[in-house]
Amino acid sequence: MIVAIDGPAGAGKSTVARTLASRLGFRYLDTGAMYRALTQLALDEGVSLDDGVALGDLARREPVSFEGDRVFIHGEDVTEEIRKPKIDRVVSSVARHRGVREVMRERQRELGSHGDAVIEGRDIGTVVCPNADVKVYLNADRAIRAERRLAERPEIGADALATDLRVRDQSDAERMMPAADAVQIDTTELDVEDVVSRIEQLVRERQPA
Ligand code: CDP
Repeated sequence: MIVAIDGPAGAGKSTVARTLASRLGFRYLDTGAMYRALTQLALDEGVSLDDGVALGDLARREPVSFEGDRVFIHGEDVTEEIRKPKIDRVVSSVARHRGVREVMRERQRELGSHGDAVIEGRDIGTVVCPNADVKVYLNADRAIRAERRLAERPEIGADALATDLRVRDQSDAERMMPAADAVQIDTTELDVEDVVSRIEQLVRERQPA
């Protein structure tokens, strides 16, 4: 079974998807980490973030891999590096290139095809896995999303973080449409446990008796 969890930054996707996967015994795939790792490598190698062809080639040549919670690209563990503000600020410019998305989506389908998985991202229910058994779109008020992000990135400061979030929302907007058949959950006033148990319920409803 595939559970697709999409939505904007700070809506609670990662925490919810991780908790859900471990509770269900499903594998967990963080597709955002793949775009982040490619962005990190492109910056290290001096590849222009405007050059979609070069970035697509780089993505094909240097597949992102996961070992447990760790993220690797080009043989390097980039798990911490890719969560820094310098990546937050430019990752959408890498993710917008069609050549990059084609490579990533192909790899995401392959990584998600080995049994039960929870896959989180922006376009999982719409494009990567349109046949997912359960599709959820998480959202929350922007002020709350910024507050949650601030807890994870306290070094940035509230104003800069709110600006970064708004800019990223805008550039991700075309990939942030909920699938027509997604269950939308507004997490503004919900805690992680509430959201996870709602999705668990959806999974149970779809599981054969
Ligand atoms: O955790 P957060 O929502 O901040 O971001 P993420 O899930 O790590 O994704 C980082 C960026 O990658 C997003 O802002 C999108 O630009 C891009 N992304 C995408 O285009 N498609 C996906 N399936 C996942 C992420």
